[in-house]
Amino acid sequence: MISQYQESLLLSARTFQSGLLDATYEDVLENIDSGIILFDELGVISFVNKQMYGMLELQRHSLVGCTMAHLLSHIQLNRFKKRQLLSSYREMIYKGKPNYEFVDEFGRYWRVSLSSGETMKGYYLFTVKEISDYKLIEQTAYQNDNLAMLGKLSASIAHEIRNPLTAIRGFIQLLRPHLHQLGKDEYARIILAEIDRANDIIHEFLMSSKPSVPQVGMISVSALLKEAVLLTESEALMKGCQIHLHPLQGDMAISVDVKQMKQVILNMIRNAMEAITERSDDYTGTIEIGARREGAEVRIFISDNGKGMDICTLDRLFSPFFTTKENGTGLGLSVSDRIVKNHGGCISVSSRVNEGTRFVISLPLIQ
Ligand SMILES: Nc1ncnc2c1ncn2[C@@H]1O[C@H](COP(=O)(O)OP(=O)(O)OP(=O)(O)O)[C@@H](O)[C@H]1O
Ligand SMILES: [Mg+2]
Repeated sequence: MISQYQESLLLSARTFQSGLLDATYEDVLENIDSGIILFDELGVISFVNKQMYGMLELQRHSLVGCTMAHLLSHIQLNRFKKRQLLSSYREMIYKGKPNYEFVDEFGRYWRVSLSSGETMKGYYLFTVKEISDYKLIEQTAYQNDNLAMLGKLSASIAHEIRNPLTAIRGFIQLLRPHLHQLGKDEYARIILAEIDRANDIIHEFLMSSKPSVPQVGMISVSALLKEAVLLTESEALMKGCQIHLHPLQGDMAISVDVKQMKQVILNMIRNAMEAITERSDDYTGTIEIGARREGAEVRIFISDNGKGMDICTLDRLFSPFFTTKENGTGLGLSVSDRIVKNHGGCISVSSRVNEGTRFVISLPLIQ
């Protein structure tokens, strides 16, 4: 099946081939938002539009008269483009697929299509179009679908996890007076606070198909970060990671749901620890945490020198259930992303394989 769009391209190309191409048609083919190559019945390029020779970074005159084999061995064609052309050729000519999609070296998505037909008299029309915007819409729809599914799954997960948590909470409360006598009441306080946080996370799962309204309170950024570091320091030490909390310049206050925001920062610190341990067992990693004011916003950063991420991982980072870990759920960042967005903020990330990753959470400051 060829689309209406391809049909109009075929019509223009046919007109061109039958010698009827006037200035208007030539203009249409030249200025269309796709790259076009027309191969004749012998497989020789008879027409290339501006978009296409621009994409290939070649001169038009060096393309017309070439075959696909000539094109693939073109001395000025860069190796990424050669590889993409070769894959498109393989998928469409050998495997007979009408379309082929690929991601280029800059992370942009492209769709290549090949059209021919009886009316084309053996000619082939090869079109290339950037589809990054459509991909973004597709990914958002996929993400929303997953969130809806998550809503259903979470009901049964919550039921299974909440019951043992309630039992643990009850027993800790019974043990609390004894711990108090031993001067270890702080341990009981931490266990209870963590159980409450786990319960809140379950609640968050249950609510994840509906956007939950944050229970907003005021907190200083420095207190928030200190508390998150306190909760993860011992785990970090055991995993051979050092956490370095940068002193903050000036007092900055934010109006957030403290539990939710703590969950976001803990998710990121845990990911950083895991990225460091995944790099190698005896590697000493460092996690840098800090914040700085940027106009009316605060930028909280969490960076690590762990294993880093490739472009495919970066692309799917915030999709629910996306994980590269054997025991991961792939929910940490998708939930964090939603929490930060609910607070009017955003998360950005930069990463390099084998060098590390930096997450930046931007949130509006209380003026
Ligand atoms: N700091 C980081 N360094 C390298 N990769 C990371 C980092 N943070 C996240 N990732 C990648 O992103 C993926 C998704 O992270 P996310 O926190 O959403 O889920 P997870 O950690 O796999 O599982 P969990 O739900 O248990 O947190 C991870 O599996 C990992 O591949
Ligand atoms: Mg995680």
